[in-house]
Amino acid sequence: TKALILVGGYGTRLRPLTLSRPKPLVEFANKPMILHQIEALVTVGVREVILAVSYRAEQMEKEMSDEAKKLGVQLVFSHESEPLGTAGPLALAKHLLANEQNQPFFVLNSDIICEYPFKDLIAFHKSHGREGTIVVTKVEEPSKYGVVMYDEDTGRIESFIEKPQEFVSNKINAGIYILNPSVLDRIKLEPTSIEKEVFPFMAQDGQLYAFNLKGFWMDVGQPKDFLTGMCMYLTSLKTRSPTSLYSADGVVGNVLVDPTATIGEGCKIGPNVTIGPNVTVEDGACLRRCTILAGATVKSHTWLDSCIIGWRSVVGCWVRMENTTVLGEDVIVKDELYINGGQVLPHKSISTSVPDPQIIM
Ligand code: GDD
Ligand code: MG
Repeated sequence: TKALILVGGYGTRLRPLTLSRPKPLVEFANKPMILHQIEALVTVGVREVILAVSYRAEQMEKEMSDEAKKLGVQLVFSHESEPLGTAGPLALAKHLLANEQNQPFFVLNSDIICEYPFKDLIAFHKSHGREGTIVVTKVEEPSKYGVVMYDEDTGRIESFIEKPQEFVSNKINAGIYILNPSVLDRIKLEPTSIEKEVFPFMAQDGQLYAFNLKGFWMDVGQPKDFLTGMCMYLTSLKTRSPTSLYSADGVVGNVLVDPTATIGEGCKIGPNVTIGPNVTVEDGACLRRCTILAGATVKSHTWLDSCIIGWRSVVGCWVRMENTTVLGEDVIVKDELYINGGQVLPHKSISTSVPDPQIIM
């Protein structure tokens, strides 16, 4: 079985982080987002992963090739000269996906985090014998997603509506599919949306089935959901692999710390914190519900809640930041400031407080 991951979106909703790195390479729980997916694909025997890229391909090739070697998986880059949407990339990679044995292939959005159910998904797909199966999950706010109406007993999808204006159901497309090569005949080589121009018609033809996801799920393509997803992921890691979590004096709840990070005396870390490689957290800092990316420094007695701190940023002493504050790469926040819901662009230096949510350029 092969897999194709859609990694070509601009990731605008995850700015300012995506101004420095393409979304699939942004580290979620100390690992590039797509690496979570590639690792899970490898465990079910996938040996070839096609990355459908439309921009910043070189950076992705460079950074992922070592990882791929370690995992023993072949990465094939399929370059788009213009963004082809979520279906066009399948047409572009047709020669890689079509095969004489009629083997189905996986397709994934690059920004979703869950306990990937690939093994059960293959089994279910083979059992109904139709063209495609999509993984579905339940959410509270379905309007941001593709909504699916289906028969709970058989899984047969009756209709698929991308980002509906009015409520129809809270069961949504989780962004993981398994498709037969015949689906490729439904897609033209031009910018095409799989959600708007392929799935609704497959549903009409009775060729699209739903597989209900167990456990947590999150699209981590925006800062608020990134942090919520991180909390869910750490909870699941706690049951799957408790020893990978960090424990020390002053650590509360689920915390992930890279071994190269240094943490000072008298800190309070957690619950729900991930600290990346070469991060420095100085004495007496208090961090909860935060992601601190590689090389960042949090100086002494600083208090952070619900923040993402970009690569190599430096947060001064006695700073307080909260409410989904996101610092881009290499930002400096001077001592004793208060930042409430600020999104700070890369390489900025902040020297006055930001009392209300805003983008700081
Ligand atoms: N190669 C390529 N080319 N990839 C693309 C392009 C493109 O032109 N446009 C988007 N992508 C990739 C993105 O990088 C992402 O991995 C995936 O396609 C989905 O795009 P998003 O921008 O994240 O879509 P969404 O989150 O609004 O909605 C999608 O995901 C939801 C689940 O998270 C849809 O599939 C919804 O139906 C679904 O519910
Ligand atoms: Mg998304």
